[in-house]
Amino acid sequence: MPIVIAVAGKGGTGKTTVCGMLIRALTATGKRVLAVDADPNSNLNEVLGVDIETTLGEIREQLAQKELNGDPIPAGMTKQEYAEFMMSGALTERDDYDLLVMGRTQGAGCYCYVNGLLTAQIGRYGANYDYIVVDNEAGLEHISRGVLPKIDILLLVSDSSRRGIQAVGRVSKMVDELKLNPKFTGLIVNRARDGVLDDGIREEIGLQGLPLLQVLPQDETVYRFDADGKPSSDVDASNPVKQGVSELLAKLPLAG
Ligand SMILES: Nc1ncnc2c1ncn2[C@@H]1O[C@H](COP(=O)(O)OP(=O)(O)O)[C@@H](O)[C@H]1O
Ligand SMILES: [Mg+2]
Repeated sequence: MPIVIAVAGKGGTGKTTVCGMLIRALTATGKRVLAVDADPNSNLNEVLGVDIETTLGEIREQLAQKELNGDPIPAGMTKQEYAEFMMSGALTERDDYDLLVMGRTQGAGCYCYVNGLLTAQIGRYGANYDYIVVDNEAGLEHISRGVLPKIDILLLVSDSSRRGIQAVGRVSKMVDELKLNPKFTGLIVNRARDGVLDDGIREEIGLQGLPLLQVLPQDETVYRFDADGKPSSDVDASNPVKQGVSELLAKLPLAG
């Protein structure tokens, strides 16, 4: 079974940037990775430099509409086969990794049927990968609802602010309350000025009881790439943020 790595934290702290660089670092070692963009504000594809056709949210919507309208299913397919066929459209296949974009869930309709199929489908596809890396929104909605598989490694990303640390403190408490029981949790403090952790931030990390894994520097090149619309995971291997992500990868309990 693949190792599931979930990245979570407040918006704008660098989750997607870290996720993208992590995916690059994992595939560089020849591992098969399923990247899942589970943030409704999906932009992992931009950090990776991948064009996407559609999202699961859009497909789910189409399926729900068809069901509502009583549209016929193509001949020779069961309802389930058709739904699975449609949903596979949200998987973008690359040589070294695949990307699945969850997208938004519009409307208040019942998605239980498609969510159930999706869970089963991810369970089946999942076996083809060494790692599943999930870029989450702060609420971990897809994981808490059980649509995405259980977390093995939880990476909490914060910027270098007390509020960022408090926000990941809340995510960590929620993970406890939901009994998600990741085997490993690590805090990444991103965008540290000169790569140095401020004393006040260190104090807040202690107050929140979070296990510090890595400090990543504020970096002009990463910022520039993003501002110029270039995939920030393409920065040079010598880039300090990219190097920091490689360092943190070496600290994770990754079998094999
Ligand atoms: N270490 C860093 N140095 C400079 N800019 C960064 C760094 N990490 C992230 N950014 C920039 O901050 C913004 C938010 O990052 P992003 O990864 O999209 O955050 P999130 O996914 O948490 O919302 C982006 O413009 C990104 O390029
Ligand atoms: Mg993001």
